[in-house]
Amino acid sequence: MDKNYFRILKELGIDEIFVEKDNMQQDKIKLLKEINEEIQKCTKCDLYKSRTQAVLGEGNINAKLMFVGEAPGADEDRLGRPFVGRAGKLLTSIIEELGHKREEFYISNINKCRPPNNRTPTPWEQEACFPYLEKQIQIINPKVLCLLGAAAARAFLERNVAITKERGQIINWKDKYLILTFHPAYVLRNPSAKDTLKEDIKKAIELAYSD
Ligand code: URA
Repeated sequence: MDKNYFRILKELGIDEIFVEKDNMQQDKIKLLKEINEEIQKCTKCDLYKSRTQAVLGEGNINAKLMFVGEAPGADEDRLGRPFVGRAGKLLTSIIEELGHKREEFYISNINKCRPPNNRTPTPWEQEACFPYLEKQIQIINPKVLCLLGAAAARAFLERNVAITKERGQIINWKDKYLILTFHPAYVLRNPSAKDTLKEDIKKAIELAYSD
């Protein structure tokens, strides 16, 4: 890009800030791609042995709200995308019922590899994988993290969480807010909990978009 290019942009009234902003987006994409390359090769815990592929996450890289689940399931492991199975479809439909789109937000998991038979990741497996999520959070910089299920909450709070008692609360974590709620897979097994999950997600969205 030569000086003429910038002169023409200025004459057209286009602010240079947009150029800087675009560079920032490119940096975010590059950094997330680097994490993806790392996780595809990761052997820090044994979950790599049975994975088809690691699943980084997807969505708006400038999202104010990030959903964090437990770990990929069979569909996610096969497709390389988070929350695309039955639980994911429920999450997406709740977001839509609240008048939003899944693409507005970023969706990821504590663990990037599917545990065999979808078992809950162990605390050690969570600890080994957590730095990848921390890097994603640093890059995307959401205001709110909505933690789906007790396992995701345990990884952040570093203690066992009784999700039925602790859901719905807003918790300070670093410079962010955490909102703990049920995992959509739990709601599939207990349909009467759907309204509660929806209420918590509504709260997370409202907090994310508040000033
Ligand atoms: N359950 C999760 O916790 N994460 C997914 O991506 C899918 C199902």
